[in-house]
Amino acid sequence: MAAKATLKFGGQEIELGVEEGTEGEKAIDISGLRAQTGLITLDPGFANTGSCKSAITFIDGEKGILKYRGIPIEELAEKASFLETAYLLIYGRLPNKPELDSYVDEVTCHTMVHENIRRFYDGFPKKAHPMAVSAAVIGALATFYPDRQDPSGRRDAEGSIVRLLAKFPTIAANSYKYSIGQPFVYPKNRLNYCSNFLQMMFANPCAEYEPDPVVAKALDLLLILHADHEQNCSTSTVRLVGSSLSNLFASISAGISALWGSLHGGANQKVIEMLESIRDGEGSAAAFVEKSKKGDDTTRLMGFGHRVYKNYDPRARIIKKSCHQVLERLGIHSKLLEIATNLEEIVLNDDYFVQRNLYPNVDFYSGIIYQAIGIPKNMFTVLFAMGRLPGWVAHWMEMHEDPQFRIGRPRQIYTGEINKKFIPIDQR
Ligand code: CMC
Repeated sequence: MAAKATLKFGGQEIELGVEEGTEGEKAIDISGLRAQTGLITLDPGFANTGSCKSAITFIDGEKGILKYRGIPIEELAEKASFLETAYLLIYGRLPNKPELDSYVDEVTCHTMVHENIRRFYDGFPKKAHPMAVSAAVIGALATFYPDRQDPSGRRDAEGSIVRLLAKFPTIAANSYKYSIGQPFVYPKNRLNYCSNFLQMMFANPCAEYEPDPVVAKALDLLLILHADHEQNCSTSTVRLVGSSLSNLFASISAGISALWGSLHGGANQKVIEMLESIRDGEGSAAAFVEKSKKGDDTTRLMGFGHRVYKNYDPRARIIKKSCHQVLERLGIHSKLLEIATNLEEIVLNDDYFVQRNLYPNVDFYSGIIYQAIGIPKNMFTVLFAMGRLPGWVAHWMEMHEDPQFRIGRPRQIYTGEINKKFIPIDQR
């Protein structure tokens, strides 16, 4: 017999079902609670709320485990490519060789954007943040593919998914080129996903750019590590927006906007800014750590802490190792890496951080790699979005195929005034 939980309230005893996941996590099903008792549950920040059942990604935050479709992240980081990982997340299984080849071909042949899209950029101020530009342009793709927007039709959605994966690097690179006043560079379909992105970022009509395979591989690894992270803020946003039957482009655009914030994907840019301010003498690493303990959100130690991980983020461990390898291969001595390593050592021995289980997260070391390969700071979060795209898409698809699918609509406890009188404007 399935397990039950009992809730006692107001002389009533209510039995609630208990759901169990394949990795043994348990959840009390409160979906019928209000109908039975008039009570809702209150959980600010959704820290204890399961919003759905999902077969995509598993995290054990206490043990520092992350798996996509059951495969440990360490194994994917070592053996898979980003598009192979995207296929795994979206279709639920690893592709065989012909499947992967044809998927890569399909993505590759859609890398160009409509010429009218290229004209959008002229309307943005030069200093526009590429995250704002990317969110706007991705949302605008809905105007170009209006016949591919029915969330219930997998075929239609698949056409949109391939276009998103293919065009995101082009849209992202264009936003950078626009900000520095250089002409856009067309994609080159002889190159792989990351090499193509790099050439669109760094080539110009006067100078060819031959992407370094080491750099392209490092970027591919970063995209894999960012590809999904179950019900984080941006993924939950994509699900929530998509749950109203909004189209895929609108849902992904909302996800990009959610990711931008500095408590989420925007932290990677903030980490480098923090390390640079330490390097530039605006305070020592130790002083920065002390300041971040004052409980003020604006002076948090960026790149540390996580809602789910109460242990070392497994992605941070892989990125830290890759960071050392990439810098060594490129012959770069990074003062920022030195500061980061020093900062990590201080933090891991500081009672405040130890008691709160605050460890480096995915954003702590990634910016040092981006910087070493020449990516400007304001593009870091765009790269996070590029990596997270397959995860967003996989969740959007899974949600629409879920037999329990309903529009997402949380409740609240009202704490405002009751029966206040309307005062005419001339008497206020
Ligand atoms: N520096 C200093 N104190 C911190 C930090 C930090 N980075 N993170 C958490 N704390 C403290 C916080 O002040 C609180 O202390 P107290 O219990 O005394 O009030 C305690 O630790 C718990 O923090 P919380 O805010 O309740 O935790 P949360 O789960 O709501 O927030 C977080 C998680 C990631 C937003 C937070 O750790 C943070 O702001 N980190 C810095 C920003 C960052 O690196 N974000 C990237 C997250 S990983 C990638 C991604 O999701 O995009």
